[in-house]
Amino acid sequence: MITRRRTALALMVPGIAWISEKRPVPMLRWLAGALVVLVLVLRLAVRAWRTGEARISRVALSAFALVLAQIALGATTVLTGKAVLPTTAHVAGGAAILGLCWFASLRSRRLLGSPAAAAVALPLGDPALS
Ligand code: HEM
Repeated sequence: MITRRRTALALMVPGIAWISEKRPVPMLRWLAGALVVLVLVLRLAVRAWRTGEARISRVALSAFALVLAQIALGATTVLTGKAVLPTTAHVAGGAAILGLCWFASLRSRRLLGSPAAAAVALPLGDPALS
């Protein structure tokens, strides 16, 4: 049941009605999840920057920029009541962040990596992406 003030707001912004009626708890979960991702990717970016290796820090900083855009897209998704374009971009953004973090991890293992990783990589030759 929504109040009259919320109803007026809902007329202006469709997402408000959607949040207040259907999704108060998931909303908090999304924000908490976003905060965790933000902190972890920020940590990744800072640590990558400190290595002084541009091939790693470029990827990590791109991931961090994408997380900021992703949070804005998440908010847009909610405020537009899950309009197709922002929702699709938001889901694709999540996949892109996962991909970039994975790529940063593989690249840092290769460029700074452990002797064990190097021993495995050696027989495979020089990867094209480096
Ligand atoms: C780092 C930040 C975030 C990441 C990585 C992320 C990632 C994702 C992913 C992967 C999905 C798809 C889940 C699925 O289809 O099962 C999703 C869905 C969703 N996210 Fe986020 N999200 C982030 C932040 C936010 C924020 C801040 C909000 C809201 C303020 C939000 C709102 C939503 C909504 C409403 C959906 C549902 C879309 C649908 O039903 O298809 N997200 N998010």
